[in-house]
Amino acid sequence: MLQDQLQQLKIRALEEIRKASDQNQLRDLEIKYLGRKGELTKILRTVGELPEAERGPAGNLANQVKQVLASEIGRVKKSLGEKGGGIADEKEWIDITVSKMKDSLGHLNPVSKVQYELEDIFSSMGFMVLDGPELESEYYNFEALNIPSWHPARDMQDTFYVEGEKLLMRTQTSPMQVRTMEKYGAPLRAVVPGRCFRNEATDARHEHTFYQLEGFMVDKNVSFSNLKAILEVTAQKLYGKDTRVRLRPKYFPFVEPGVNGEVTCFLCHGKGCRVCKKTGWLEIFGAGLIHPSVLKAGGINPEKWSGLAFGFGLTRLAMLKYGIDDVRLFCGGDLRFLNQF
Ligand code: PHE
Repeated sequence: MLQDQLQQLKIRALEEIRKASDQNQLRDLEIKYLGRKGELTKILRTVGELPEAERGPAGNLANQVKQVLASEIGRVKKSLGEKGGGIADEKEWIDITVSKMKDSLGHLNPVSKVQYELEDIFSSMGFMVLDGPELESEYYNFEALNIPSWHPARDMQDTFYVEGEKLLMRTQTSPMQVRTMEKYGAPLRAVVPGRCFRNEATDARHEHTFYQLEGFMVDKNVSFSNLKAILEVTAQKLYGKDTRVRLRPKYFPFVEPGVNGEVTCFLCHGKGCRVCKKTGWLEIFGAGLIHPSVLKAGGINPEKWSGLAFGFGLTRLAMLKYGIDDVRLFCGGDLRFLNQF
């Protein structure tokens, strides 16, 4: 019977269509069943040869089967398309179901991590967090900080000058001491993280671009013990309760007295290791009591007020924390380096 033939063909064709794994297979099936010489088309042609009474029902059934197969082919074609399977050129397909979220989120640079850690510590002690200009005037970067044009300290902090203007790329975050005093007056507590620049013959420990974090406080009777206490609390929050601070005299024109600050090595706790180069100590900041003429430059009366200041090498802190042995990696733009953090 033609009806049975149609039913069987329908079952077989549907099964094959549902199993199709790409668009090419589906197109072949469409030709096999519904094409001009296809199996269903052939059956449809024989309908005309049937006795009159059978023609109507057989024709109807054949058309129904045709519609079912065509719509099933359409459905499978769409779902294959959505999965990205089997578009004519297999090499070029895109799997749109793969999520890119993870990559595009990004992550913090190790310098930013150390910076945010320090900002939190100093905010908890009542310091504001400020931002200052990277392109700075010679006045704020040097003159106001007790470094006149003839001063040998200018040599140690050579930088990039803008020709014809008295502008330069700041060599330190210290110029923000005077800018902040001018703006806020006394009393005052602030930290200023930021990018600094120097004209260096670069090597593993010297780079033309690096980060510092400046901190300063101006108040009545600010003393050296305040400075030491603030730095000790900071070092212990950074590296743990048993961390000690060592201050040794160092000359900076804008503080008096001035010190170099070291903390006991966080890795060996003072025993000596590869990170501290066997000394047990890590040099991480410069500090001192703000020089009276710097206070004056900031419009603050040094007879009434005194101040302390310190500057952390943020890039150096990040190098120590993450065991990075070449400072040039930070500005190198090599993703293999950056993606490790
Ligand atoms: N600005 C100094 C430097 O870059 C560090 C420093 C800051 C020293 C504040 C004393 C006080 O070396």
